[in-house]
Parts: sequence; structure tokens; C-alpha cells
Amino acid sequence: MSTELNETQTEAAQSPAELGGATTVGETDERTRAEWVDHEFDGDAKIAVEDLNVYYGDDHALTDISMEIPEGSVTALIGPSGCGKSTFLRCLNRMNDRIGSARIEGSVRIDGEEVYRDRADLVELRKRVGMVFQQPNPFPKSIRDNVSYGPRKHGDLDTTFLSRLLGRDDVDEEASLVEEALEQAALWEEVNDRLDDNALGLSGGQQQRLCIARCLATDPDVILMDEPASALDPIATAKIEDLIEELAEEYTVVVVTHNMQQAARVSDQTAVFLTGGELVEYGDTDQIFENPESQRVEDYVTGKFG
Ligand SMILES: Nc1ncnc2c1ncn2[C@@H]1O[C@H](COP(=O)(O)OP(=O)(O)OP(=O)(O)O)[C@@H](O)[C@H]1O
Ligand SMILES: [Mg+2]
Repeated sequence: MSTELNETQTEAAQSPAELGGATTVGETDERTRAEWVDHEFDGDAKIAVEDLNVYYGDDHALTDISMEIPEGSVTALIGPSGCGKSTFLRCLNRMNDRIGSARIEGSVRIDGEEVYRDRADLVELRKRVGMVFQQPNPFPKSIRDNVSYGPRKHGDLDTTFLSRLLGRDDVDEEASLVEEALEQAALWEEVNDRLDDNALGLSGGQQQRLCIARCLATDPDVILMDEPASALDPIATAKIEDLIEELAEEYTVVVVTHNMQQAARVSDQTAVFLTGGELVEYGDTDQIFENPESQRVEDYVTGKFG
């Protein structure tokens, strides 16, 4: 293969049609340019993804994704349904490992350490890289038990009957951990007088903030959120959005959303995925929404398709 051909291939990736599958209605046949996903930022990359490809059986769900995600910021992932946003998110803490048909190639490094190395400790990884899903999924247990579930499961808190009997329990530690996590998730004021109530009695918005508190209680570095507010009303959504911005002071947040205004409001940088599981453009959120380089991205963010 000639050098010239190699350069052409890295400069311009395949067109949507060549990526297999129909072009989404309204998308042009534009070729993606490598520099459109080259997002420059100050400081360190918390997450570095290189040549990531994901297949479900014969379906190619993500195609040659390379991007670096800065520490202590909010990164929004947007794009039409089926373009691979959830798949990408699940690659970051190896949740796709649980899907039998999924095959992952390429590299994901967090703090420089390869997530896909042999004998990686997946329990530790998912503690460091927590996840919040679209539907709030609290356990049918008390509010307190939901928050302290992770630390107890990982052996960081011992509140068993035997330890209480022996006076060697961590009940006080549990109380302060629960309060801190609920404070951080902006839920403490609403629930501090009913920590023993069943979490399923909370409203949807409260349940989602409880799930965020549960995630924070395991002391993660990175928080992945897959459409965390799409099942909520506008007031609950506004609370989650405020929370996301606050969390970025301490954590690296990666959030999938279908809501463009939400991405524009809460994120520092935005990655746009389009047909064929291709990352088409990635950059400062203002630039992506106001002056994107790709015509397809412009059509998408202005609502021409998707
Ligand atoms: N568990 C799975 N098994 C097989 N195929 C899957 C699985 N999960 C996702 N896919 C396929 O991979 C592609 C990307 O799906 P994914 O759920 O990542 O998209 P998405 O961008 O999150 O979509 P949405 O906006 O609808 O949530 C789709 O074609 C989907 O059908
Ligand atoms: Mg999804």
C-alpha cells in the first residue's frame, strides 16, 4: 500500500455509505476529517480512547473512535438513536463485557492505565468509573442502604449484626458517608428525616439523585451518565443539570443526552456520533453548536435530521 493512500485514509475516513448501512435521512455523503475530532485542551486527559471498534456479532456499532477526555469537566455525547452513544459509554467501564455478542478492539486508558489489559480488576474499575442510567434504578431497600450499598459490598463499611454486637461496627462512618453523598447529590434536605424509608417511595427525580448519591458513595473519579434526565419532568431535569455542573468540579463527567439544549447548557465539550457509529466531530461545546466544521453535524444540531 502506498504512503499516499495511507495518508488519504487517515485524513478522510470512510463516507457513511461505505461504513455499511444506509445514510440517515438528511445526512450528506460528506467524508469525516481527522482534525474534526482533534479537541485540544489544557491539562491532562483523564480518558484516552484510541482506535476503538465495537461489534455486536456482525454489526459494526463503533468505528475507529479516537478521542481524549479532559479531567474535571463535562463531556456531552450526542447523536441520533442507534449511533453508538451507549455502546461508547459502556466501553469506558467495560460494561459491554457483560454482553455476550460484543467484541471490542482498540484501547481505552484512564489515567494512562489500559482498561482492557489482561486481568484488569473489573470491580475496582467500576468503582472508579461509576454509572447512572436513564431509568432511575434504586434497590427496593431503604434510602440509607441504597447509598451505603457499594461501600458495604466492597468491604469498606462493616455494619453487620456481629460487628455491632462486638462494638466494632462502622455505623458512624456509614452515617457520615450517607449524609455526604446525599448532600453532594442535592438530596439530603429532602430525605434526611426518612433515611429508613423505602427508596421506591421517592419521586422519579429524587430516585435519580439517589442513584447519583449511590454512585458517589463508592468514591469514583469518573461518572458516566446515559440520558440521566430523559425520564424526568422539567423541574427534576433542571436539578440534575445543576448537579452535573457541580459534579464536574470534582469528577470527570461523561453524559449522553438527546437534548441539544441540555448538552449546550451543561457541557464543556461535545462529541457528535452519527451513522455507522462514527465520531464525526468533537470540540468545545460552543464551537460544535455555533460553528461546526462538518455539514452533517450542522444539519444534526440544527434539527434537520435525527
Ligand atoms: N446488547 C446489544 N446487542 C446487540 N446489538 C446491540 C446491543 N446494544 C446495542 N446494539 C446495537 O448497536 C448499535 C448502537 O446502539 P447503542 O445503544 O449504543 O446506540 P445509542 O446511540 O445509545 O442509541 P439511543 O440513542 O437509541 O440510546 C445499534 O445498532 C444497536 O442495535
Ligand atoms: Mg443509548
